[in-house]
Amino acid sequence: MATTAAAMGVAVAGTPWRARANEHFATLEAMEASVQLAPEGYPTTDIWGYGGTSPGTLIRVAQGGRVQRRFVNSLPQPSAIHWHGLRSDNAMDGVPGLTQDAVAPGGSFDYDFVAPDAGTYWYHSHNRSTEQVARGLHGVLIVEEPDTPDVDRDEVLVLDDWLLDPETVQLATPIDAPHSRSHGGRIGNLVLTNGTFDQTLDVQQNQRLRLRLVNAANARIFSLDLIGLEGWTLALDGMPLDAPEAIGGAIVLGPGQRADLIVDVVAEAGAPAYLTRAERGGSQPQATFAVTGQASRARRGLPDALPPNPNDTVDPSSDVAQLAFNMEGGAMGGLRRATFEGEAMAFRDLAQANQFWSFNGTVGMTDTPFASFDRGQTARLSILNDTAFPHAMHLHGMHFREVLAGNALGPWRDTLLMDGGERRDIAFVANNPGKWLFHCHMLSHAASGMMTWMEVA
Ligand code: C2O
Ligand code: CU
Repeated sequence: MATTAAAMGVAVAGTPWRARANEHFATLEAMEASVQLAPEGYPTTDIWGYGGTSPGTLIRVAQGGRVQRRFVNSLPQPSAIHWHGLRSDNAMDGVPGLTQDAVAPGGSFDYDFVAPDAGTYWYHSHNRSTEQVARGLHGVLIVEEPDTPDVDRDEVLVLDDWLLDPETVQLATPIDAPHSRSHGGRIGNLVLTNGTFDQTLDVQQNQRLRLRLVNAANARIFSLDLIGLEGWTLALDGMPLDAPEAIGGAIVLGPGQRADLIVDVVAEAGAPAYLTRAERGGSQPQATFAVTGQASRARRGLPDALPPNPNDTVDPSSDVAQLAFNMEGGAMGGLRRATFEGEAMAFRDLAQANQFWSFNGTVGMTDTPFASFDRGQTARLSILNDTAFPHAMHLHGMHFREVLAGNALGPWRDTLLMDGGERRDIAFVANNPGKWLFHCHMLSHAASGMMTWMEVA
């Protein structure tokens, strides 16, 4: 710090440059609020939100720039902010107990880190996250490419669901019932986009839109389709695909995952245009595009790919650290015994402790990491989902690629959605030093055993 300040010709004279600069950080306050979530006619719902809304304050920063925010905790519980998908400094990763202490009610913490990769990211509480994210503590972080693609509109669509008591429209309790912990997680009964029941965008035929989809739900998997819109997927989990991929079938997003689409409005004025989600027995509008008029006579041509982010190349055929990673447990699962807090326990005793899942026979966090890597080493994880449920496995601090047949590589990602019974391999270069979580992003699962960590020296 002193070196940087001196190089800039700034006298630091005993005061750390950073502490002084922090006074100018914008505040990001987590607070209680009451907002209209349910349709008109229903009462408001008590939430916790960054800036008093859910989704919270939208943050935009230029690629290579710094994210600098003073987190102020005005909640009745300790909290911390995790910057999901950011290859940030470990000390800024926001995981209480691993990278920082939880910020007490009334306290604050200064987050300050570089955003090396352009794309669509998000931030959320990582303390008691099943409850705190369910109460609304999440927001979107956009890291802008230096040259933004040629579109008429850039729209963020945050997909979320809330489990509310239908009478009071307050959060249904218990927040984290044993049934949702051992089954598919806390699934809501009110599905929203950008915190509203009937998200509508006014558009014109042949307009080109960039849609940034973020799945901020605790556990819901969204399966999305387009009506009256046609286009391409440009990025997944913020990371650009090598080439835009025409959208043919459903766009599936597990909790924590994102997709950047470029779509053209092909519907004529007055004709239906929707983003829809699949539901049992049909599909429901997730966002409505009200088409009025025509922006131009014809659609534009194919979009260019987004420029790649500056990550190390993954080479799964090189000398890799190969690890097996078996997920077990849950309802209808095969978990009979596992180690929990250093003790071998039978399933019924684990269930007593509200723990239902294990990785390689171990339930939840341990004092020593699941794996340790030398910096720069390539790691390959062969992940077996030996359970009856899908899981969304999220790695902090680094991005990975799926290893496909013949060592072909899938797109860069930070969260891998796996079906029950599947085996999938991922590989990444362990190039970011620190302690990084690897957990299921179905937050009730993470709280019931599906959470471990790795260390990069
Ligand atoms: Cu989006 Cu460990 O989290
Ligand atoms: Cu899970």
